[in-house]
Amino acid sequence: AAFLEILKACHTRELKREEIIRLLSTSEDAEMTAMFSEANTIRQARLRDFFCIHGIVEFSNYCVRNCLYCGLRRDSKNVRRYRMTPDEIVNSVYDAVNHRGYKLIVLQSGDDLSYTNEILSGIIRKIKEKCKVFIFMSVGERTSEGYRKMKDAGANGVLFRFETSNKALYHSLHPGQSFDDRIALLMEMKKMGYFIATGFLIGLPGQTVEDIADDIITIKSIGANMVTAGPFIPTDTTPMAVHPAGSAAMTLKVTAVSRLLMPKAKIPVTTALETIENEEGRRLGLSSGANSLMFNLTPEKYRGDYRIYPNKYHGKEEIWEKYGLYKETLSYKMLEKKMAEAFK
Ligand code: 5AD
Repeated sequence: AAFLEILKACHTRELKREEIIRLLSTSEDAEMTAMFSEANTIRQARLRDFFCIHGIVEFSNYCVRNCLYCGLRRDSKNVRRYRMTPDEIVNSVYDAVNHRGYKLIVLQSGDDLSYTNEILSGIIRKIKEKCKVFIFMSVGERTSEGYRKMKDAGANGVLFRFETSNKALYHSLHPGQSFDDRIALLMEMKKMGYFIATGFLIGLPGQTVEDIADDIITIKSIGANMVTAGPFIPTDTTPMAVHPAGSAAMTLKVTAVSRLLMPKAKIPVTTALETIENEEGRRLGLSSGANSLMFNLTPEKYRGDYRIYPNKYHGKEEIWEKYGLYKETLSYKMLEKKMAEAFK
């Protein structure tokens, strides 16, 4: 079918896999522009000005896993490892929420099991006592019992990517891990009532456009609330140091197609897209169907060591804070205007 007809069809029926592949395969400017603008229109029609900003606290860069692409992998030797204490974590969140207006916080770390489920639950409880905030946990693969404890302590969401839906590719990149286990855990979390943010990496070795279509279909079939897909970025301390980065164009196409398929989902502009596109990343993402941003709240002294990939973008957050752009909800029009001013 013709490209523009597929774009129209998404309003009245589910797109077929072949159609999704067709959308993701385009490299024509006119088609891409039409698709981004369609996604932006749908975002506006279905979510109006709803827009959200997440603050992320990266509280430990220790990891027991050995994912081939990740700078924090167990075998990365030149990483200065750190762990924030429970008090440091609670205080960073407290400051962000009570003094700076954040309403959504992501607590992220490597798969660091030295923070037991009890310790994490304690941190969550303390935060919830002190502030009104939505807490996402991004702490990797743990037992479902662990996730149950964190939910009972007050955690609201999880940020937990399946990384790729191509099983063979998944297994080649994640030694000792199982794709089925990961998806099963995700489904458990969903049953527990967690708000689910999940997604995948773009630009993995041998990954095809068919794989990416399946990744998006997987997110939808899981019934995720939030779609997080970012480009792979090579890291020197990993076996994938010389593998080329995922492309910004594919990332934007994925953002747009996700919006076409999941009109009400939250879709953040990922830090990885900002890293490969700098200032432009946010604008491009937000005009291709995304409606959310992630700000870094990790204390300065640790930030440089949370090196999932190099040169992680930190943005001109002062500008955002000056304009109060970090609040949970704000007029999208106003946001665009302020962004245009701020980044002139
Ligand atoms: N480039 C981009 N994203 C990466 N992640 C891990 N390593 C990289 C990399 N080199 C992503 C994974 C993980 C998230 C926290 O960071 O998708 O789920």
